[in-house]
Amino acid sequence: MRSPLTAFALIVLVITAPMMAAQKVELTIDTSRTGAKIDRNIFGQFAEHLGHGIYEGIWVGRDSKIPNTRGIRNDVVGALKAIKVPNVRWPGGCFADEYHWRKGIGPQRSVTLNPNWGGVTEANTFGTHEFMDFIDQIGAEAYISVNVGSGTPQEAAEWLEYMTAAAPTTLVKERVANGHPAPYKVALLGIGNESWDCGGNMTPDYYVSQMKIYSRFVRNFNPAQQDKQQMLKIAVGPGGDGPRWTDWTETVMKAYQQHTWSWDINGLSMHNYTVPHWPPSYTSVGFGETEYSQILKSTLEMDGLISKHSAIMDKYDPDKKVALIVDEWGGWYAPLPGSNPGFLVQQNSLRDAILAALNLNIFARHADRVRGANIAQMINVLQAMIITDKEKMVLTPTYYVFKMYVPFQNAKLIPITFDAGRYAHGAVAIPRLDAIAAKDTNGKLWLEITNLDPNEPVEVEAGLAGITGKSASGETLTAPKVDSVNTFDAANTVIPKPISAKVHDGKVTLKLEPKSVTVVSVEQ
Ligand code: AHR
Repeated sequence: MRSPLTAFALIVLVITAPMMAAQKVELTIDTSRTGAKIDRNIFGQFAEHLGHGIYEGIWVGRDSKIPNTRGIRNDVVGALKAIKVPNVRWPGGCFADEYHWRKGIGPQRSVTLNPNWGGVTEANTFGTHEFMDFIDQIGAEAYISVNVGSGTPQEAAEWLEYMTAAAPTTLVKERVANGHPAPYKVALLGIGNESWDCGGNMTPDYYVSQMKIYSRFVRNFNPAQQDKQQMLKIAVGPGGDGPRWTDWTETVMKAYQQHTWSWDINGLSMHNYTVPHWPPSYTSVGFGETEYSQILKSTLEMDGLISKHSAIMDKYDPDKKVALIVDEWGGWYAPLPGSNPGFLVQQNSLRDAILAALNLNIFARHADRVRGANIAQMINVLQAMIITDKEKMVLTPTYYVFKMYVPFQNAKLIPITFDAGRYAHGAVAIPRLDAIAAKDTNGKLWLEITNLDPNEPVEVEAGLAGITGKSASGETLTAPKVDSVNTFDAANTVIPKPISAKVHDGKVTLKLEPKSVTVVSVEQ
């Protein structure tokens, strides 16, 4: 005899079964037209002297039992090489405006303090040469933030001379004596960091007068960077969307419009974390759909913020010569219990993978203006790619998104139209689907689709106007729960898996799992 409970369960099944069927979405990709190039610098990383971001995360020292090359851990280098990191922003963050580079060169290093981040001592064993060695090992370029807050233009100018000059000056001889005869390349120069707050609490006008001086005197002397590959100078930009921030953007861009031969900038930085409350209170583990949906809603605000500041930039720079560089972004949650709150330690879940994909897509759609971004931060801090504990290392869900997006580096956007639908939970209503398409440098078509809905699959049928697709293949990233994470003991909970896509009548069809990030390529 069937129990009343079983009968009820059957009724529920019958009623809900049709509702569980995948939503169908048609997508149109017009491959005959290409848009702006997705600058590979939007996949940049940020490594600050903060917590275990540098020490333990990158630097273990030459005598460590952890396998290393000149003190830099080999496992981390191997993992970062695989995601083709374009540039690394260093040494901060707030740390940059208290950093004095001379303390981090030569055989004798000064031990200083790191008052911003946990009040710990800073051994300065990881300095200019170690950073340059690290980025050389992973194949990335240097994005150096110079100290405007507590340093001087002279100190910054001498640092650049030390790093980049070839002529036998006293500083260059010192670099040679410290083991590096060839000039280093500095691709990007940050003129201060958050000068409106931790970088010196400056007014926009005061910052602009400082910025002009630094832009004029902090020169790159590398002979290989004089005509081609010139160093890009990035001014401090906004950190939000209120009048304080729009005034800041107005002031810097107005000054840029009137700039003379003696100074210039090539970029305006913007910082925007996904942190619905301050201090950060959302947890990075042990959350449910409510927190998942609220964080995704919050992260989608990046789009409006970019549009707002881009519109101001358009007024003063209609030719879009000045790039918007979102050089700090990512989810910022409550510190993990038991960690030093100043070390900004958090876990990284499937939610962060989806958050990363949404932001990368936003940057790509603004590719004409957004030509750089740096996720905060690369290792062991905030929304990290990698988490380490002594000799152990684990790759996070966010790492895998960056890996899946490698084909989009320098690819050209392709117009795409689709009905994104709606995913609603509680007071949150956001698009169910997000997607971008691009042609890589070899002309191959790539499609990324994110299914934000944590409950419903989506069946996508993508029409390809302009090409005859023969086959399609790719990878999808999902996990059992929105807060699933990779740990040292279970490192493969959130990893990409192959997805089967069919091509029929010139259309690509694929079924997207709930809460998933998918990248496929199309063979013609
Ligand atoms: O990434 C952590 C901190 O956040 C950075 O040092 C600072 O620039 C920002 O406020």
